[in-house]
Amino acid sequence: MSVSNAPIIGVVGAGTMGRGVAQLFAEGGHAVRLFDAVPGAAARGRQFVADLMQRAVDKGRHTKDQASAVLDRITLCDTLTDLTQCSVVIEAIVEDIAVKQQLFDALEAVVAAGATTADQVSRACGAGSDCGACRFMVTEIVENARGAACPAGARA
Ligand SMILES: NC(=O)c1ccc[n+]([C@@H]2O[C@H](COP(=O)([O-])OP(=O)(O)OC[C@H]3O[C@@H](n4cnc5c(N)ncnc54)[C@H](O)[C@@H]3O)[C@@H](O)[C@H]2O)c1
Repeated sequence: MSVSNAPIIGVVGAGTMGRGVAQLFAEGGHAVRLFDAVPGAAARGRQFVADLMQRAVDKGRHTKDQASAVLDRITLCDTLTDLTQCSVVIEAIVEDIAVKQQLFDALEAVVAAGATTADQVSRACGAGSDCGACRFMVTEIVENARGAACPAGARA
């Protein structure tokens, strides 16, 4: 798959994990849509990535152009509906199963049929879309197990 037609990645939650996930995919050439429920949080997440990119430039690991291209791939979103075009949406929100389930229910109404939604801790997913279980170390996927549509009984 060429970078130009790489799937658009949605990231919900721009805290410690979400900003790292956004960085990981943007560095990999994906367009990323970053959403957080708290106003300003997504912008802070993107700024965190900007600071890391600047350090990478200072250390000669990225050129300025590479660093700005990574940042340009991260688009801040005001609402969940801005994730409509994402074929993969990764959740990185508060560790509360009820809140995570509410989010996946809301995502079901937003993402296209066949889109993949994935949880950080493999314990919640939407009932209709394919469900992925992703585990991340700070900037590296260590496991990405994609399952079949998640049965209702497996949602807790
Ligand atoms: N930090 C880690 O090392 C780590 C490792 C593995 C898994 N996890 C899991 O990843 C998830 C996120 O952890 P974190 O450390 O990034 O948390 P965090 O508190 O740093 O960030 C969570 C972000 O989610 C946002 N948020 C909360 N509810 C939301 C909602 N309903 N919709 C949109 N945004 C919402 C918050 O505003 C916050 O910015 C948790 O489930 C955690 O258990 C974290």
